Amino acid sequence: MAYSEKVLDHYEHPRNVGSLDKDDAFVGTGMVGAPACGDVMKLQIKVGKDGIIEDAKFKTYGCGSAIASSSLVTEWVKGKTVDQALAIKNTHIAEELALPPVKIHCSILAEDAIKAAVADYKAKHGATVETAACNGNK
Ligand code: FES
Repeated sequence: MAYSEKVLDHYEHPRNVGSLDKDDAFVGTGMVGAPACGDVMKLQIKVGKDGIIEDAKFKTYGCGSAIASSSLVTEWVKGKTVDQALAIKNTHIAEELALPPVKIHCSILAEDAIKAAVADYKAKHGATVETAACNGNK
């Protein structure tokens, strides 16, 4: 199978590999697995007091496309609010990396990982996330 240059670039030079302290109140951790293949992805975000994601790290035990997808999204989420990060869809990732159809689930894993990381952050921080002000039951 031919991978795009962007996949190979992220696979060979993955950005933001590593871990953040999951017990830090400003860190959200998402750990997800792909039922289709058993690959596992951990993605973490560190959110500043202004609600902007200032750092992101990942560890992916999976295929090259999953590694590339998670590397890409750690770059994308930096500088975004958590709610902007939730707007990242697997279709954006698949398009950017030109993933073939059999590798779409790898990009879904990355979208799920962001959602899980934001959910963890919000669970820790529910009352102080800005959306709480306009939607009291979040
Ligand atoms: Fe399963 Fe890529 S083959 S995440």
